[in-house]
Amino acid sequence: MILVTGGLGFIGSHTVVSLQEKGHEVLIVDDLSNSTIEVLKGIEAACGTRPKFQELNLQNSLGVAGIFKSHKITGIIHFAAAKAVGESVKKPIAYYQNNIGSLLNLLAEIQTLDKPIPFIFSSSCTVYGEAKTLPISERAAIQPAMSPYGNTKQVGEEILVDTVKALEGFKVISLRYFNPIGAHPSIAIGELPIGKPQNLVPFITQTAAGLYPKLTIFGNDYPTPDGTNVRDYIHVVDLAEAHVVALEHVLACKSTDAYEVFNLGTGKGSSVLEVIKSFERVSGQKLIYKIGKRRAGDVIAAYADTSKANEVLGWKTKRSLDEAVSSAWDWEKKIRGR
Ligand code: UD1
Repeated sequence: MILVTGGLGFIGSHTVVSLQEKGHEVLIVDDLSNSTIEVLKGIEAACGTRPKFQELNLQNSLGVAGIFKSHKITGIIHFAAAKAVGESVKKPIAYYQNNIGSLLNLLAEIQTLDKPIPFIFSSSCTVYGEAKTLPISERAAIQPAMSPYGNTKQVGEEILVDTVKALEGFKVISLRYFNPIGAHPSIAIGELPIGKPQNLVPFITQTAAGLYPKLTIFGNDYPTPDGTNVRDYIHVVDLAEAHVVALEHVLACKSTDAYEVFNLGTGKGSSVLEVIKSFERVSGQKLIYKIGKRRAGDVIAAYADTSKANEVLGWKTKRSLDEAVSSAWDWEKKIRGR
């Protein structure tokens, strides 16, 4: 049974669907802090199987021990973490307690097992900061984190590096995501931002749905082709599939190193204006936007060199930006009842 922590969240729920489609049995553990129990039904609707579920915050070490006592866990995909950059600046202690505490409790249990089990960690391209060269490969330097949230990803990776050195047979893959967007084609699951969305695509779709009068582009005076920031937007289903492939890579003992890192993106950069154009194309409607000031902490451009994941994992993205944006729009219309 594969333990998926945070399996009711955006990337987690899509990964559970992909895992179940490949025949894996799944136990989701989620504290519902940034998700709802309804997502379980959505997962079942998307793939026909309802995963096992336990409500738990992983800071509860006794609860974590209980999971391993009650189930034969053969692998872990660890998504459960708080992820709001701005909130993390205001509540650093809560972010470190939750994101680092949860990771430590899982590792403490793994170390009591007769044989360590594969561990897939949700990391982020945020660890590269403003990279010196594009596209960004896994060899790019790690830059000082710009927020406590970003630091929890860096420290999380460091903890895993130290743990694989000490724990014989422990195999870990850290997956550094670029910008996940979109929804499952069934539109039974998708992104559910709580409150005002901070990320571009949910803000576009919510603005188009009438929740906000207009979108503000955070700066158009960057040294990029059209002046707006460039990012690598990856369809969440492509990202989900990468998790299954990474897990199966370790389960099949194909890892050459105990600790491996992969960038997960499309390899293609898109500017904010290009994403807006994509939305207008797939939705057939104009988006109202204005140019505003730069947002503090934004990097100019970031997109992935995906060759390592392509070659070592044999994984490639299959879905275009238009497909991703179109699925995000279909999901938005569904949740707004339109
Ligand atoms: C953000 C986080 C990053 C996190 C990632 C994953 C910040 C500074 N960075 O990355 O740490 O790992 O999400 O979810 O919060 N934009 C607008 N108007 C908007 C919203 C966004 O112009 O209303 C622009 C941004 O300036 C940026 C691009 O859209 O250039 C993408 O923004 P966003 O979706 O927030 O992702 P990141 O900034 O890449």
